[in-house]
Amino acid sequence: MGLYVFLGLLVLGLGLVLAVDDPRYCLHEIVKSDERIRSHGYPAETHELVTEDGYVLTLFRIPYSHKLQNQNKPRQPVLLQHGLFSNSDCWLSSGPDNSLAYLLADAGYDVWLGNARGNIYSRANNFISINSPKFWHFDWHEIGTIDIAAMIDYILPETGHKQLHYAGHSQGTTVYMTLLSVRPEYNEKIKSGHLLAPCAFFEHGTSPIFKLLSPLVGTPGGMWNQLLVDTELIPHNNLINRLADNSCGTGSAYDSVCKNAFLIFANGGYENMNISSMQVLIETHPAGSSSNQGIHYIQSYASHEFRQYDWGIKKNRQLYGQDTPPDYDLSLISAPTYSYSSNNDALCGPQDVDTLVAKMPQLIEDHRVPLQSFNHLDFIVAKNMKELINDLVVERMNKYEN
Ligand SMILES: *[C@@H]1O[C@H](CO)[C@@H](O)[C@H](O)[C@H]1NC(C)=O
Repeated sequence: MGLYVFLGLLVLGLGLVLAVDDPRYCLHEIVKSDERIRSHGYPAETHELVTEDGYVLTLFRIPYSHKLQNQNKPRQPVLLQHGLFSNSDCWLSSGPDNSLAYLLADAGYDVWLGNARGNIYSRANNFISINSPKFWHFDWHEIGTIDIAAMIDYILPETGHKQLHYAGHSQGTTVYMTLLSVRPEYNEKIKSGHLLAPCAFFEHGTSPIFKLLSPLVGTPGGMWNQLLVDTELIPHNNLINRLADNSCGTGSAYDSVCKNAFLIFANGGYENMNISSMQVLIETHPAGSSSNQGIHYIQSYASHEFRQYDWGIKKNRQLYGQDTPPDYDLSLISAPTYSYSSNNDALCGPQDVDTLVAKMPQLIEDHRVPLQSFNHLDFIVAKNMKELINDLVVERMNKYEN
């Protein structure tokens, strides 16, 4: 039943996105990450960098904490990277007492918030128009190996450090793993890495989204692949935001629509969710991404492998010199890395984390959240995420300081 409601919602949502709204207006209407940070009394900066292939990426920064007044003390940089459909606001939406960005600032860190190419804060390219399909010709492989590399290479000289700490959620973990396995020289720039809801393997994913889309785009060559490749996937959209705003947590009849939408992330239930935090997120989400990011994940579900994008035999031979895409070699990840995963994660669940851990011999810790109901989104919006996740992350980073 839930699946059909979800299906209906998906079709309706996509229809509305395509038919009604122009996604390219939105930035002037929303509260951006830097304004949000300042509204809580913290200093905020906005930095722009250009990648080697011309994408203009926005980094937001909380350089110090107004509570500590530590602007003249040494401060270790930390980079936080959001998940699919998301942006830097995911590290802020639960406010200074709960969200990781503020907790790190208050622990004395210099906090940088990344934004991947294609999201609302990183929607320009110096060579390619956003209206061209070429703009959307990327997936999380490029976000990892180009965008994250560029962010690190921007932050380190800017702060005068040789290393930074890293934490990512969901796709923010995938891009960490792609970068460090494809360009292993980046390992030495990471002081410690923290993977919240780590996503590499999807064989056991229970989300209906996998079963639904796998027959369509799980393997290359089909009509759907050609139709969907290199386009924007679920852009930021006023109408969707208003729909979500008027359903989620309002206690109205539409609440069940909202609950069913969350079946994408959890095997039922969102009891840990902080609804106010979710409502903050909805203002700037979904944040924009390429269809290829989604297709690449669905390919991972179908192939059971963590490997590069599958373009079909002909193009694979040209690109990779072999019929199938090359695997990401996780044994090359030598930076001190910690995994934090949960039982009720319908996308990157416990069995797939087992596979990941077995292939990452240098992983320092495989932490499983003891609360069984904790789901994929709870890492970002749960009422109890401070105790269950964020305090642990800060504590583990602190071990590398002093
Ligand atoms: C829930 O989110 C709101 C909105 O950001 C925040 O003010 C509040 O402190 C959060 N509460 C918890 C327990 O996370």
